[in-house]
Amino acid sequence: MECAQRRRRRCLFLSVAVIIIIIVVAVVLGLTLRKETDGLKTTFIARCEAFKGKRYDCQTVWGAFEQAYVGQDRCKVPMEAYDPLIAAAPFKHACNRMMFWSKTKYVVHDFTEKKDCFTTMQDTLLGSVLHSLKWCGKEGSSETFTTGCPGWTDCENNPVRSFWLKASAAFADNACDDVTAMLNGSITTPFNSSSIFGSIEVKRFKSPSVKSLTVVLVTEKNSVTNCTNASLKDLQKELDKGIKYNCKEVTEAQIQECSSDPEKPCSSCW
Ligand SMILES: *[C@@H]1O[C@H](CO)[C@@H](O)[C@H](O)[C@H]1NC(C)=O
Ligand SMILES: *[C@@H]1O[C@H](CO)[C@@H](O)[C@H](O)[C@H]1NC(C)=O
Ligand SMILES: *[C@@H]1O[C@H](CO)[C@@H](O)[C@H](O)[C@H]1NC(C)=O
Ligand SMILES: *[C@@H]1O[C@H](CO)[C@@H](O)[C@H](O)[C@H]1NC(C)=O
Repeated sequence: MECAQRRRRRCLFLSVAVIIIIIVVAVVLGLTLRKETDGLKTTFIARCEAFKGKRYDCQTVWGAFEQAYVGQDRCKVPMEAYDPLIAAAPFKHACNRMMFWSKTKYVVHDFTEKKDCFTTMQDTLLGSVLHSLKWCGKEGSSETFTTGCPGWTDCENNPVRSFWLKASAAFADNACDDVTAMLNGSITTPFNSSSIFGSIEVKRFKSPSVKSLTVVLVTEKNSVTNCTNASLKDLQKELDKGIKYNCKEVTEAQIQECSSDPEKPCSSCW
């Protein structure tokens, strides 16, 4: 900046002020960007460390997670990008107590929190660490972003959607013996072949490792459907030959009552 002799003081003052403002803006921007990565990483590591019976090196798991999307176009992260993550934190859970669900999120998690006899995705390391989080990267950047990321339906290969599809497939691959699924009897189509349960998980149940599927159709007083509904016939058709199917209508109140009673074995809940 050229400062004429006469107005030198004022001009110098202005120059210094402008420079200070530029520095402040740069620092604040830098901090916010850093905070986004740090924010997600902090949550990730904290949830990972808190995972019961922690058997994982959380920094390694974070590294495997991050490599899937960092530096990538936000709409070009395929399911396979998460293969290293699944390898770092495999779904090796008691395969005979797996619980799947569709449109019954609240009831099912309330149940598995109180009763320790079924495992849902959210009870696994990756499920418990990443539930309700959003993330994405950006081409040419090594940052993790948590804002401005594509939503579930904005583009097919977005980082969050690809993760849940990959994780659901890997989780279901691990199923064995008797599998349970809680479906919603208050909606007209309790089995939707386009849902994650219908399009991914059911297709992964393989006979003879999986012996049976029990559908717990959660009903309420004003429930619109029951076990005879045609969509459940479609579910049976999707099942691998040799997997036994049965369906039980259970009221939401009955499930809550059972989960609140520590004396009641899970086998008597439905
Ligand atoms: C079933 O779906 C209805 C409508 O979306 C919802 O209000 C209800 O809470 C769901 N039931 C269960 C058990 O989650
Ligand atoms: C089934 O699920 C898909 C995807 O979530 C949704 O677009 C569609 O409306 C659902 N169909 C029914 C009959 O509920
Ligand atoms: C199931 O629902 C259908 C109507 O959708 C009804 O005709 C039938 O009686 C119901 N079955 C039972 C066992 O409640
Ligand atoms: C049962 O399922 C079919 C889809 O397969 C759906 O169109 C129908 O509305 C459902 N019936 C009832 C009574 O909710």
